[in-house]
Amino acid sequence: MLGMPPHKYVTSLLLLIVFLSWRICHGGNILIVPLEGSHWVNMDIMIKALHSRGHSVDVVRTNTTWYIQDDSLHYKTITVPVTEAFNQDFINPILKKVIDIERGESSVLSFASLQAEMFTAMFNVHRIMCKMATNMFEDKDLMDTLKDRKYDLVLTDPAWGAGIMLAHALKLPLVYNVRWITSGEGHMAIAPSPLSYIPLTGSGLSDKMTFIQRVKNHLFSIIWQVQDRFLIRPHYQAVCDRFFSPEVRYIDLLHGADLWLMRVDFVFEFPRPTMPNVVYMGGFQCKPAQPLPEHLEEFVQSSGEHGVIIMSLGTFVNELPAEITNEIAATFAKLPQKVIWKHKGGRPATLGNNTLIVDWMPQNDLLGHPKMKLFVAHGGTNGVQEAIYHGVPVVGLPVFFDQYDNLLRLQERGAAMILTLATVDKDNNFLKAIQEVLNEPSYRMNMQRLSRLHRDQPMKPLDTALFWIEFVMRHKGAAHLRTESYRMPWYSYHSVDVALFLLTIALVVLLIVIGLVWSCFRLCCKSKVKSDKTVKKE
Ligand SMILES: *[C@@H]1O[C@H](CO)[C@@H](O)[C@H](O)[C@H]1NC(C)=O
Ligand SMILES: *[C@@H]1O[C@H](CO)[C@@H](O)[C@H](O)[C@H]1NC(C)=O
Repeated sequence: MLGMPPHKYVTSLLLLIVFLSWRICHGGNILIVPLEGSHWVNMDIMIKALHSRGHSVDVVRTNTTWYIQDDSLHYKTITVPVTEAFNQDFINPILKKVIDIERGESSVLSFASLQAEMFTAMFNVHRIMCKMATNMFEDKDLMDTLKDRKYDLVLTDPAWGAGIMLAHALKLPLVYNVRWITSGEGHMAIAPSPLSYIPLTGSGLSDKMTFIQRVKNHLFSIIWQVQDRFLIRPHYQAVCDRFFSPEVRYIDLLHGADLWLMRVDFVFEFPRPTMPNVVYMGGFQCKPAQPLPEHLEEFVQSSGEHGVIIMSLGTFVNELPAEITNEIAATFAKLPQKVIWKHKGGRPATLGNNTLIVDWMPQNDLLGHPKMKLFVAHGGTNGVQEAIYHGVPVVGLPVFFDQYDNLLRLQERGAAMILTLATVDKDNNFLKAIQEVLNEPSYRMNMQRLSRLHRDQPMKPLDTALFWIEFVMRHKGAAHLRTESYRMPWYSYHSVDVALFLLTIALVVLLIVIGLVWSCFRLCCKSKVKSDKTVKKE
């Protein structure tokens, strides 16, 4: 621009002003009801993108929020007071119990108590969410302000249901940034999902199942459904009953969203049937690596030809038992690579001087660095997608929720190796896994193949997501893409009523035929007997 003649400079400036004002005029008004932790990290990326396209964004959060900063440049906050929160104090005791159970004697009992523990946690989260929704709906001033803001749509993560009910209360189109709903994986709620090849989350199964595994898959499905039907959904239904008209069912609100922006793609997820209003944006948060901060770049360069390993257990996991962290540190110390480890809590005694401990790291930029060799990850969706995008093989150390299942999708494609918390610090397992994935070229080659497949799309996933959000704003919803299935009772959906009806008809016809045949037979017999008698008389 500096070398331009002045008149050209003025013209470009004018054009820029026209362009900007056009954008501001056409910007929409979006209300966001996010989740905490890693879910917020990816929602925030979407908010920045929406903001940069001229939309104005408001974010609903609680006054005890864990991750959601007060007013940023990209959004304004609406803060709802609550007395109970989902944050570190909530997660840490659960984490501790999960680790204790996983590292204890493994048995049917420990499996059951693990399920019970995870389930109690979910139950409490939804209870807290419903309290938040209740506080919101009771606050007339707040609700009036929200109505006056004339939003174009609500964007929410339906793993928690407050945003769904808020969209209904404000009569606004509803868009999901989704992988999970209250009752498991998002597809399960709206798309046909044959359990013969679609593994349930938490089952640890792939899309190739033996007979016994299919039995297990069905059992998991029943557990999920029972939990949802009898323990989670009633919380939300109670809020609906209190604030909406009696015929409003929470499950219909959940299923009735205009658009499902799904945080997976079929490079990562096993292929499965889908729906017209499901749009795939897996890996939308990934972008080419930016230069690292100077001290990190220096550290990374000092690794020479051996390259760098990074390790992160995500936003929810803050502390592992000391024997695990010591073993991890000791293992890293034996490697010729340099290691960057996102770790909170005490400095392990066995830490080698090739290992740098950090509070936070620019994970995407590190994964995209040419010296990156290996990612030690817990298997959250964000990290797994970033590893795919940058083609970095993974050693997985799953802790809870969907993490094992996410890593399994990489392991099935030969791009990762999974360790368990129970055995990570035994028999040099951690060292063996790292050396295997570093030295066996197939891991890297498979991951880079996934990366090429993932990147080969007509539009970047984030642009796809933005297009569809704006599509919903332009057309005030996307009801034409929604199948009728969401209104149907289960017996209509599965055509049980039709099957019963047809069976009944078939039965009636069969009975009539049998009746006719039988009476014919009797008639024949009678006339035969008669004719026999007449013969005898003669
Ligand atoms: C949030 O609001 C509630 C209710 O007003 C209050 O009791 C609580 O102390 C507040 N919490 C924080 C962290 O501000
Ligand atoms: C730490 O690094 C120094 C060189 O910077 C090296 O001489 C020393 O042996 C290293 N210590 C260990 C325990 O690896």
